[in-house]
Amino acid sequence: MGLMLLKDQVALITGSGRGIGRGIAHLFAKEGAAVFLTARTKEQLDSTTAEISKGGGRAGYATADLSQEAACAQAVAAAREKFGSTDILVNNAGHYGPVVPVEDYPLAEFDKVIAVHLRAAFLLSKLALPEMYARQSGVILNISSLSAKAAYSWGCAYAAAKAGLLGLTRVTAAEAAPKGVRVNAICPGPVTETQMSKDLGAVLAKKIGLNEDEQLAGFLNGVLQGRAQTAEEIARAALFLCSDQSSAMTGQSINVDGGAAFY
Ligand SMILES: NC(=O)c1ccc[n+]([C@@H]2O[C@H](COP(=O)([O-])OP(=O)(O)OC[C@H]3O[C@@H](n4cnc5c(N)ncnc54)[C@H](OP(=O)(O)O)[C@@H]3O)[C@@H](O)[C@H]2O)c1
Repeated sequence: MGLMLLKDQVALITGSGRGIGRGIAHLFAKEGAAVFLTARTKEQLDSTTAEISKGGGRAGYATADLSQEAACAQAVAAAREKFGSTDILVNNAGHYGPVVPVEDYPLAEFDKVIAVHLRAAFLLSKLALPEMYARQSGVILNISSLSAKAAYSWGCAYAAAKAGLLGLTRVTAAEAAPKGVRVNAICPGPVTETQMSKDLGAVLAKKIGLNEDEQLAGFLNGVLQGRAQTAEEIARAALFLCSDQSSAMTGQSINVDGGAAFY
């Protein structure tokens, strides 16, 4: 067990069957939260919740394709049914989308990327806030990206969705502050252990005619620490922002990128 920084809290974490969301679910459970997981792939939700339960944590899940409005409502309802109302909402789910220039980017794919990263975060916030306001407490954390603050080719919808999340974070924070609720964002740099990052690295390497190690080395040249971040390092920042340790912070976006963006 950890320091129990989230004792008796209920956390709904999206995109938590694998990757960063899985890391957040593990750490939050260790810190005393009941964690409710959601993603599309049942097997990954099954195995992650089983790992958490085996470690003595409380975990439940529901499958949901968060690009669908109804699925967002179902996920919040399922979390409420399992553990009661949500104290902490972590909007983490998403995919990178096509790796192509703007002029070749299919509209349907653009809409899908926005729907999962940005629209679902809006819908889930809309669903979770009334109960948080009623209790005068709660935290929302939006997982944005270094891509929101940098300029990388071939991922316009992803960058737009992640930048949009920062706007959503600030406006929600402004509305929520007088009601005891905090809203922040994390901008991770390259978390190379995750499926999304590996897939993207492979596609980028192929496009620019390098092998994957060379492509990654080139990218890490632009990071002060010269290394990738781990899902656990992102989870530790998430724990800070979702616990009372950050009680005076709201409307912020925190870069957890080894020193790559400086605003
Ligand atoms: N890895 C990085 O370098 C990096 C850097 C900055 C920001 N991020 C952000 O961190 C978050 C997590 O990414 P990750 O790297 O951990 O990637 P990942 O391992 O691919 O995990 C993404 C998670 O989101 C879920 N998901 C994707 N589409 C979904 C949908 N339509 N409905 C519900 N769930 C969905 C996935 O599950 P299913 O496929 O089963 O649905 C999975 O659980 C993302 O928001 C990503 O943009 C990642």
